[in-house]
Amino acid sequence: MNVSTPVVITIDGPSGSGKGTLSQMLARHLGYHLLDSGALYRLVALAAMKQGIDLGDESAVSQVAAGLDVIFSLENNKSAQILLNGMEVTEAIRQEAVSMGASQVAAYPGVRNALLERQRAFAAEPGLVADGRDMGTTVFPNAQTKLFLTASAEARAERRYKQLCAKGESVDMAELVRDIRERDERDSNRTISPLKPAKDAVIIDSTTMAIDEVFARMLAAIH
Ligand code: C5P
Repeated sequence: MNVSTPVVITIDGPSGSGKGTLSQMLARHLGYHLLDSGALYRLVALAAMKQGIDLGDESAVSQVAAGLDVIFSLENNKSAQILLNGMEVTEAIRQEAVSMGASQVAAYPGVRNALLERQRAFAAEPGLVADGRDMGTTVFPNAQTKLFLTASAEARAERRYKQLCAKGESVDMAELVRDIRERDERDSNRTISPLKPAKDAVIIDSTTMAIDEVFARMLAAIH
C-alpha cells in the first residue's frame, strides 16, 4: 500500500533571519499548518525557570521537556495563543531571558529527543510549514522543499532593534548584536542537530532584501 504523507516545507535559519514572519506568511498563503518549533524550546526553558530548575541540570530539564503540558490554540496560526499548564505564556516566551534559556536547553540531547515526535505530529493535511533550526536536517529529512534563510548578524540585530523599539522597550544595539552572535555560536556549534542548511536546501540571504522579495524567492523555490 502506498501511504502518502502530507507535504512539508521546512524553513531553517538563525535568529532574526525573518523566518518567523515569513513562515506565517507562507502558511497563510498556502493554507497549511504551521509549526513554530522555537516556541517549544522556549516553553521548555520557561517551564523549567518557573519550577526553579537550574537550566544547567540536563536531566531535570529533559524531564520538563518530556512532560510539557502545552496547547497551541489553532485560531489563526501564529498569533495563536500558547498555554503552558493552562496559563497563557504567548508573550512571556519571547523575553530575552527566555531566548537565551531556550538556546541553552536546546543543546541537550534529552530535550531534543523529547520534542522530536511532538514536532513530527504537526505534519497533517493539507500540509505543514515547519520553522526552526533543524527542520530540514533532522525533524523532516524527507520534506518536499527545504529553505534556509539567513542574513548578517548586524542586519538581524537591527530588525530586532526596530521590533523592540516599536513595542516601547529600551534596547541597546551593541547588546543585541552580542546576544545574536552568542546564540548563533551556540546553535551552530552544538553536537546535536546544529544549525546548518540541509544538503538539499535552497539558501536565501536576506541581508539586503525587502521581505516581499524574500517571499517571492521562497514561492519560486516551492513551485
Ligand atoms: O526560533 P526561536 O528564536 O524562537 O528559537 C529559540 C531557540 O530554540 C533558538 O535559539 C535555538 O537554540 C532553539 N531551537 C532549536 N531548534 C529548533 C528551533 C529552535 O534548537 N528547531
